[in-house]
Amino acid sequence: MTGRAGGSARALVAALLAPALVALLVAPARGRGGRGHGDWDAAAPLPPLPPREDAARVARFVTHVCDWGALATVSAEPAVRGRAFADVLSLSDGPPGAGRGAPYFYLSPLQLSAGNLRENPHATLTMSLAQTNFCRKQGFDPQSPLCAHIILSGTVTKVNQTEMGFAKHSLFVRHPEMKTWPSSHNWFFAKLNITNIWVLDYFGGPKIVTPEEYYNVTFQ
Ligand SMILES: *[C@@H]1O[C@H](CO)[C@@H](O)[C@H](O)[C@H]1NC(C)=O
Ligand SMILES: *[C@@H]1O[C@H](CO)[C@@H](O)[C@H](O)[C@H]1NC(C)=O
Ligand SMILES: *[C@@H]1O[C@H](CO)[C@@H](O)[C@H](O)[C@H]1NC(C)=O
Repeated sequence: MTGRAGGSARALVAALLAPALVALLVAPARGRGGRGHGDWDAAAPLPPLPPREDAARVARFVTHVCDWGALATVSAEPAVRGRAFADVLSLSDGPPGAGRGAPYFYLSPLQLSAGNLRENPHATLTMSLAQTNFCRKQGFDPQSPLCAHIILSGTVTKVNQTEMGFAKHSLFVRHPEMKTWPSSHNWFFAKLNITNIWVLDYFGGPKIVTPEEYYNVTFQ
């Protein structure tokens, strides 16, 4: 009995792992956009950090150079209902050099975060230059404000028809693998509607930036 159960469990695991292994094998080539597509892991193409006193510009910079973030939602899972819950999500605020500031996501109703957001759309997103090699290169610890990081709070909403083309292009150019994600998962485009912004880019506590100041920033 146990032998048979163990055997079918192993077969099930093998069946579940097979697509994952195939994905691992093909992922490096198309998993991320790579240099020139907005992945700033490698030092060379990372644009210089804006002046730290211009917190709104620093915030836009961090949002644009990060291609993922940790999104905190309020859990709807019975085991941890009502508690803070964070997950890593791929994102993009625009094609390289053309970020508009609003972080776009490609979500599936099957994700824990999407389930949480269905009940409570409030969410907080954090992104850090520790995700690039800026901080390592400069010798800044991720928790140091010198390793610039930002906290964006707001609500996650579905992207409307008008904005969908930009959202899709922004995400797919930096996350080419998304194009191949199974359609059975009912992926949809969403964005963080930002209401509050905190910037940690220097000593002296977080700086408050308004969404108006944040979206007002233009890059050449
Ligand atoms: C779609 O969303 C954008 C950005 O939030 C907004 O400016 C636009 O008015 C919306 N369009 C429609 C048709 O609701
Ligand atoms: C975004 O947030 C603002 C402020 O809370 C709100 O007035 C607006 O309706 C929201 N927009 C969407 C698309 O949810
Ligand atoms: C928007 O930017 C312009 C030009 O840089 C500046 O003069 C203005 O004060 C800014 N407004 C806000 C609300 O940040």
